[in-house]
Amino acid sequence: MVGTFSLILFILQVSFVHPSHFYGGTITARPYNNSQTTGTIQMIVRERWSWRTTYYPVASRCTSAIIAAQTPMIGDSSPVACISGAACGSHWSTGGATMNTRTWCTDFNTALNTMSGEYYAYFPIPINAAFSVRFSSNAWLNALGAGTGTLSWSVVSRISTILRPDGYLNTSPVAVSLPIIYKQTNILHTHVVQMSDFDGTDILKCRWSTSSGNVNSADECMGICNGVPGGVTATLTGTNCTMSFTLTTDYWYYGVALQIEDFYDNAALLTNSPMSSVPIQFLFYGYPNPGGCSTPPAIVGDRPNRACIGVMPGDNVTLRVVVEVYCTGKSIVDFISTVPRGVTKSGISNPTTGQYEITLSWFPLADQYGPQGICMAAIDNTNIQSNQWCITYLVGFQSPDVIRPTLVQGSASPIGTIFQNHTVFSIQTSKYVNRPTRNQTIIYFRNASNGGSLVQQFDCGWDPAVTYTGYTIVIRFPVAPWTPGHFFYVTMDSGVASGTEFCGPESAPMYDPTFWVFNIWNPAVSSTTTTTTTPFTTVTVTTKPTSTTSINTLLTTTGIVITTTIPATTTGTTSTTAVTTVASTSVGPTMSGSTTESTVAVMYPKDFEDVCQQTVGIMSAVIMLLMMPIQTITMYATFTKYAATFNPINIKAKTRHQLRMKRILKH
Ligand SMILES: *[C@@H]1O[C@H](CO)[C@@H](O)[C@H](O)[C@H]1NC(C)=O
Ligand SMILES: *[C@@H]1O[C@H](CO)[C@@H](O)[C@H](O)[C@H]1NC(C)=O
Ligand SMILES: *[C@@H]1O[C@H](CO)[C@@H](O)[C@H](O)[C@H]1NC(C)=O
Ligand SMILES: *[C@@H]1O[C@H](CO)[C@@H](O)[C@H](O)[C@H]1NC(C)=O
Ligand SMILES: *[C@@H]1O[C@H](CO)[C@@H](O)[C@H](O)[C@H]1NC(C)=O
Ligand SMILES: *[C@@H]1O[C@H](CO)[C@@H](O)[C@H](O)[C@H]1NC(C)=O
Repeated sequence: MVGTFSLILFILQVSFVHPSHFYGGTITARPYNNSQTTGTIQMIVRERWSWRTTYYPVASRCTSAIIAAQTPMIGDSSPVACISGAACGSHWSTGGATMNTRTWCTDFNTALNTMSGEYYAYFPIPINAAFSVRFSSNAWLNALGAGTGTLSWSVVSRISTILRPDGYLNTSPVAVSLPIIYKQTNILHTHVVQMSDFDGTDILKCRWSTSSGNVNSADECMGICNGVPGGVTATLTGTNCTMSFTLTTDYWYYGVALQIEDFYDNAALLTNSPMSSVPIQFLFYGYPNPGGCSTPPAIVGDRPNRACIGVMPGDNVTLRVVVEVYCTGKSIVDFISTVPRGVTKSGISNPTTGQYEITLSWFPLADQYGPQGICMAAIDNTNIQSNQWCITYLVGFQSPDVIRPTLVQGSASPIGTIFQNHTVFSIQTSKYVNRPTRNQTIIYFRNASNGGSLVQQFDCGWDPAVTYTGYTIVIRFPVAPWTPGHFFYVTMDSGVASGTEFCGPESAPMYDPTFWVFNIWNPAVSSTTTTTTTPFTTVTVTTKPTSTTSINTLLTTTGIVITTTIPATTTGTTSTTAVTTVASTSVGPTMSGSTTESTVAVMYPKDFEDVCQQTVGIMSAVIMLLMMPIQTITMYATFTKYAATFNPINIKAKTRHQLRMKRILKH
């Protein structure tokens, strides 16, 4: 009796545990050299899988130590088989490249009982082959809320070495997702899957995976075809991969199977002839309204959701993930993540009430060139998950960080003393830039004389007052808001400048109040001091604790020619030289607290007036007035030259690249 009971238990356990260990994944491919047109192509095929941790023996479960050591590999060891196409039987699986599904561990989550990993390697494939590879086995979880009834999985990707009409080899699109995404049941949700393509002109489309009649000539989803329930309410907008759906059953999982396909142009789209087809499979988990305060936590920073950031191989990349909790008494106990190989995570810290953070660190490897996605979600102590927050690191491309004003007429303009009616402001970047693709990327003009209060702000995502031309961002105020005699400075959110490569790597945020400072000429003050020799005034500006950089007003862009380079030292220093544009990089006295002070020496209004009375000054002032409208053009020319020297990428590749980027830029 006891024996039978144990046996039943055993069978129950086996049938419950054994077949339920797959949580989805993806397969993508790119050529090592997309300019190659003959011979054998080295394709880098990348796979990513998520598993139920406790299905595996303890020694094979992912830990932080295993992530750091990159060994042992985790997951099932099944072949990725060729399923259809010319290369089956010669170039892949039989007689050709073979790949199995053991991966380096990248992520694990104890509470959700998942671990994920990725693996990539070079596979030699002859040119002009197109074929589909598949990872198929069983099983998904038993508790799937919808689908065809079988629990087998099938993940299918189309790989191609056929030359594109533009003569290059194709790189397949990339999609990234968390393995399990929590959604409250009986609420209509909208969920966006971030998709991107290194070939910027390609038209991307995502569709539900299907069991037949697709480009892969294979069953792309098996147990989770039509896994997202709701019938007519589950919709998918292919162009931006946005789905709307309602989960109906509490505590159940719903499998999502999508294919992301890249089309060379509209003609290819019309004939449904994608160049590649990339699977992305993951799970939704339905939970009931928890009652009480049910607002989920949210990841709020440092970088915005779906940002794209350029990094170089070997860079020390650190990313702070900041979460806010909106229900008193709740706390963040865990994160679920999807990160590239080699990313390590700090512990969770709680710097202030209701705010939690974790820091990711990563040294990208040269073979991680191209887009690398990171997705995170925080989990609170009642098991409620935050929004999915994904960003893309573009390895091998520099973000267009805004250049500090260190060159005469080289960057932020104007700085120094300006007229009250000044309305045109511009700043240069080190890369060719475009308007950001997201709204709420804001450039702020603040009043330094009033503790940094906001004077005016512009949303670079759409505001026509902000224009992007090449290396320059120009801001035109409809009406100049300035008050004479006061100081103002400019700050910028992440992504005010977006690069043109692929997904538009974003500029870093700039909140340093000394970065771009100007003050407004006060004729009233000036006329009362015409006969006195006024010493320079230095103005101290409190900067962020890390910044020790000072503005050098030698670099004024108001057109005043610099005729002295004698620096003013600290407050009260008198300059006896005739013309008094100032250079100062001296560090001022430290005020209370731990902040570092930097000194900004500025022209006193009197000096400005004096300058204007001198020949050289008048000439400069005239030049300035003439130049205001054409300033942009001049700077653009200067900067194009600068950037051409600066940027080692060869022009040809760049031109081609920019062509291919055009579609992306239109967003
Ligand atoms: C890529 O292929 C082209 C054409 O064969 C060749 O000229 C170029 O040197 C290759 N680049 C690299 C980095 O191998
Ligand atoms: C996706 O596209 C649809 C149709 O154009 C649009 O209604 C929706 O707002 C878009 N979603 C996002 C997140 O951009
Ligand atoms: C990487 O940068 C972080 C933060 O700036 C720093 O704490 C860490 O020591 C750096 N690591 C290395 C190896 O330089
Ligand atoms: C701005 O003010 C200056 C000095 O008052 C004046 O010379 C100039 O014409 C004004 N410019 C515009 C565009 O109004
Ligand atoms: C950004 O905001 C503007 C103005 O509110 C709006 O017209 C535009 O549709 C928004 N764009 C996106 C992508 O949300
Ligand atoms: C800047 O602040 C000063 C001091 O509070 C104030 O007098 C002035 O009106 C402010 N100017 C603007 C444009 O906000």
